[in-house]
Formats: sequence, C-alpha cells, structure tokens
Amino acid sequence: MVTPVLLCGGAGTRLWPLSRESYPKQFVPLIGETTLFQAAAKRLCGPRFDPPVIVTNSDFRFIVTEQLAEIDVTPGTILLEPEGRNTAPAILAAALWLARKDPDALMLIAPSDHLLSDADAFLAAIEAGLGPARAGEIVTFGITPTHPETAYGYLELAERPQADYEPPRPRSFVEKPDPDRAAEMVSAGRYLSNAGIFLASARCLLEAYHHHAPELIDPVKQAVEDCEPDLNFHRLARVPWSRAQDISIDYAIMEKADNLRVIPYDAGWSDLGGWTAVWRESTPDSKGVVTSEHATALDCEDTLLRSEDSAMEVVGIGLKNIIAIAMPDAVLVADASRAQDVKQAVAALSKKQ
Ligand code: GDD
Ligand code: MG
Repeated sequence: MVTPVLLCGGAGTRLWPLSRESYPKQFVPLIGETTLFQAAAKRLCGPRFDPPVIVTNSDFRFIVTEQLAEIDVTPGTILLEPEGRNTAPAILAAALWLARKDPDALMLIAPSDHLLSDADAFLAAIEAGLGPARAGEIVTFGITPTHPETAYGYLELAERPQADYEPPRPRSFVEKPDPDRAAEMVSAGRYLSNAGIFLASARCLLEAYHHHAPELIDPVKQAVEDCEPDLNFHRLARVPWSRAQDISIDYAIMEKADNLRVIPYDAGWSDLGGWTAVWRESTPDSKGVVTSEHATALDCEDTLLRSEDSAMEVVGIGLKNIIAIAMPDAVLVADASRAQDVKQAVAALSKKQ
C-alpha cells in the first residue's frame, strides 16, 4: 500500500487576486467545479492507497475538512503547521509521523496545485515507481518541458528518455533555474521538468534528510513528538517548529540526493502556477480568448477575462495578450507576458498594509 502525503499549505501568490493568503489557490475552483485540492485528494483514493496524510497550515484546517467532506474522502491524519516553513519540513514531519508505525511505509508526496487529466496514466506511473521506491530510491516524475519555465525544477538525463526501460537515474536536479539556464535546458532535449510528485519510503527519505539536511531533523522531530491532538487534527509543536529552516524539498534534498530515479510522465500534467497556465488550461477559443460567466470579450485575442463576482460584469474590447481578473475587492489587469510578476505586486501590496 502507498500512503499519499498531500501538501496543501502553500500560498500561491501568483494567482492573486483569486488566490489569497487566507484562501490560497489549491482551495479555489480554478477550472471547473472542484478545487485542485479536492481533485488531488480524489485521485489518491482507491485500492492502492491508504487514507492520506494531509499536511497543511493550521489556518486552513477547516477549509481542508470541509472540502474533503464534500468529496467523501476521510483522511488518515491531518498534521497542522503553526506557520509555513515550506515543503522540506512539511514532508519530513509526514515521514517521521509514518515511520513511527512503519519505517518502510511508501509515501507518495503529492502537491495540491496541479491538474492531472489522465488518472489511469497517473496510476500506471505510480505503479512503475513502486519497485525502485521499495529498493530505497527516491522516485520523481519528469514532464517533457514545452517552454523555459523558471518556476520548475529540472532533471538532467544522460540522454533523451526512451520508452520501456528501467527508470533512469538523473545526472542532476536543478531547481528554479534563471531564464537563460531554463532556455538552455529546454533546447538541450535531455532535461525533464520535475512534476513535484515524489515516491519513496519513509526510511529512505529520513536517510536523505540525515545526509543532506541534518539541521532540520531535530526541530521537526521535536515538533512531531510534542504534537497535540485537537479535534481530528494533530498540531505540530510551535516552538520547535519555528526553529526549522524555511526551505523546499527541492533545494534541501533533491538537488543533493544521488538516489533519484525519473519516471517520464507526459499524460496531461499542468502546474497552475500562474494566470497564463490557467488561461492555457481553460480551453481558449479559436482567438485564444477565455471568459468566465460574468465576462464578455469583443474583438479580443489571447486574453483571459474573469469576474468572480456575480454582481460585476467585466467587458474587454480590442484587447490582446491581457489578463483581467475581477474580485469583489480587487481587480488585476496585466499584460499576459508579465503574469508571473503578480507575485511582486502581492509583496508590494502587503508592505502597504
Ligand atoms: N504543508 C505545506 N506547508 N505545504 C506547502 C508549503 C508549506 O509550507 N509550501 C508549499 N506547500 C505545498 C503547496 O501548496 C503545493 O501544493 C506544494 O506544496 C508544492 O509547493 P509549491 O510552493 O507550489 O512549489 P513550486 O510549484 O514552487 O515548485 C515545486 O513544484 C514544481 C512543479 O509544480 C517543485 O517541486 C518544482 O521542482 C516543481 O517543478
Ligand atoms: Mg507549485
């Protein structure tokens, strides 16, 4: 059996104003009716999986339980972080939690901010990773990159991936390269982008932390040992947790580990990391236009217009390459090529407050 470890404590500032600090993108229906968190939780049910361990920020605990109840998923454990310390401490907490009962528990670490359109292909990829994961490898899933995205990690292969072979060991893992490096890697053809999904045993991950991020062990172990039950939640202890470094698993472990394996996965994966990705995944019309229920576009091209407020109609005329998102209390209007800069705008706004 595999235990899904669902990470849903991130902020998702690049999808402001829909994604908010108090209600981030994984909990918002971005495309269709269900949220990305619900889609991720549903995907990880079934005969192969134990009930999921959910790791989230304490602020999101009731959103998590409500959204799970809506889709009839019963979690195994919900670990609550007193504050976000990024994915390396969150995953370590889950590994320590599971290792208490079974050090060989297989963990499928899954983000909750992705679209995966082919559930069967996803399960087949997991199946292919079970052998290497049981043998003590950290299995990653690699997507053929389509554009030089700087928000991803990249797995360097010795050669272009072939079908029907033992999952290869990457030569290197490069997290969030600068634009030039990303462009070089995409044109080289032997890099896959990292899907952000990892499969490994708790034992193997704990060994990786001992080798590559030993400073995280003590605070996170203490936070798990001293964690307090509260309703159906387990609250990680605040004081030791606050001593854990704020770092992602990609920098803390994946860039350093020498026991990675890559399973190529090209069956419809998308990280909805910014508005251009949402635009792309929302099936634009023949002119590249996407509008929501309360938005109207006249003579527009390559434009996303959304109103999240039924009392506010948004109209665009003659727009090209524009993203406009209207909420009851905030409106974003941006050139599509600058969509990633929403993150900077959010930082500037939070300084004003
Ligand atoms: N519990 C918890 N606590 N979850 C967190 C935290 C945290 O402090 N920070 C982030 N997460 C969750 C997010 O909600 C998301 O579901 C997942 O962990 C991944 O975090 P992101 O912050 O979205 O990572 P990223 O998108 O910048 O980069 C990762 O994913 C890319 C693919 O989408 C990396 O693994 C990249 O290498 C990868 O290419
Ligand atoms: Mg992400």
